[in-house]
Amino acid sequence: MTVPMIIDTDPGVDDAVALMLAAASPEVQLLAVTTVFGNAGVEVTTANALRLRTLAGLGNLPVAAGAARPLVYPPPRRTDRWHGRDGLGGHADLLPEPSGPVNALGAVPLMATLLRGAVAPVTLVAIGPLTNIALLLAVHPEVKPRIGRVVIMGGNLGGAPAEFNISSDPEAAHRVLGEEDVATTLVPWNLTQRATVDGGWLAELAAAGPRCAALAGIIGQCRQQRSTPVALHDPLAVLEATVSGTLTTNPMALQVVCDHGPDRGAVQPGDGPGRPVQVACDADLTSINAMILHRLRALR
Ligand code: BDR
Ligand code: CA
Repeated sequence: MTVPMIIDTDPGVDDAVALMLAAASPEVQLLAVTTVFGNAGVEVTTANALRLRTLAGLGNLPVAAGAARPLVYPPPRRTDRWHGRDGLGGHADLLPEPSGPVNALGAVPLMATLLRGAVAPVTLVAIGPLTNIALLLAVHPEVKPRIGRVVIMGGNLGGAPAEFNISSDPEAAHRVLGEEDVATTLVPWNLTQRATVDGGWLAELAAAGPRCAALAGIIGQCRQQRSTPVALHDPLAVLEATVSGTLTTNPMALQVVCDHGPDRGAVQPGDGPGRPVQVACDADLTSINAMILHRLRALR
């Protein structure tokens, strides 16, 4: 089965793995990569998307830049430096130089144009702050019937702390998770943080040819710099978007805390009926990590 897909992303080390996974997956028909601020500023995440387009052998796949900041309030100050100033753990130089065109339309108009022209439902995979997706649904509601599913990496249903993607733009997340009516799957941090990579996984990736070796180099540098393991947050969302049902999901009405208290950006079960979002709650993560590795190795 072919899955037409647009990935909205803020590369990002795990975003890099997610993009490579989409490129390596035969089911995926990648229509575009759109970028958003998040792990770094949008100029940097866009440059990284261009690097990854080359690394993944995606030719002139449209890459378009989107939001540089959240919808309403300035971006929260990030306390960790997990993805470094260059978004790739300080080792963006392990990837090709950014090259080739950036789509002149920009992220949201490009998504709308592709959706309007789509002959089959398109899956949107959102693996950064939800600003571009909220804008798309707000400005171009007519394209909603062309969206098969929105698959989002974000939220922590296990309690504190609030997860990065959602807390980077809670108002956008409130719109997308709480108020819109497109089919949505949420792949939350409390699940993805269990998908950690170990030395063996990384060694196998590194041995799978030059593209995989470059990717393994970025992940490996991050593993050395961080005090906690590297987890495949965003690749889990791409895998679920590609092979629907890979993750076990439960329907839940959700609310996003948008006040300015300590829980700002938290995702919680809604206190009213609300429309249900499919929330990923469990998975065989050992098999999934192996499946991701198997797919990536096809890139060579
Ligand atoms: C999410 O935050 C980002 O740092 C990662 O790329 C991922 O999308 C995990 O909380
Ligand atoms: Ca991300």
